[in-house]
Amino acid sequence: MKSCISNKIAELISEQIKKEYESSYLYLQFADYYEKNGLPGFSTWFTIQAREEADHALIFLNFLHETNTEVKFFPIHPSALNIKSIREPLEMSLAHEKFITKNINEIFCKADEENDYRTKLFLSWFITEQFEEEINAQNLLDSYDMFVNSDSSKNDDCKCKTALYNLDQKYGERKYSPSDKLSA
Ligand SMILES: [Fe+2]
Ligand SMILES: [Fe+2]
Repeated sequence: MKSCISNKIAELISEQIKKEYESSYLYLQFADYYEKNGLPGFSTWFTIQAREEADHALIFLNFLHETNTEVKFFPIHPSALNIKSIREPLEMSLAHEKFITKNINEIFCKADEENDYRTKLFLSWFITEQFEEEINAQNLLDSYDMFVNSDSSKNDDCKCKTALYNLDQKYGERKYSPSDKLSA
């Protein structure tokens, strides 16, 4: 059976699968940094985030399967990081989520140009998801700045270790559950 989406959209979605795995890998590196730096709760948060990104890749993959579209497996290029402060990954994850939102919006724009309503409907879930991802990333950064690092220009000048400990406890309570898009 022939694919019902264009080659261009198929290509963009295959690229997005790659980007979701790159996101997953990025968040695993954050988790690893926090684990090594005595913050197991932050590590748990980002490990779960990494699992969610791998789920996103599967959701895109399933869409290509459902539309009888050939999947392209592009090489994954994770960035090699040299994280220097507790705050840095929080800043990077906000910037990264904004980048992913931009990518998804671009696929949506292309689908709109092509009157590809099926892809637009599918992507609407990701538009909502990205909105939440950006809010979460912003909240992590804001909480850090508000409670731990009152002067954000001095990156790791932690005046309040108790606040950092409390945030770590809170983030450690996060539980993974597979996306409703996968369990449905
Ligand atoms: Fe994602
Ligand atoms: Fe994300």
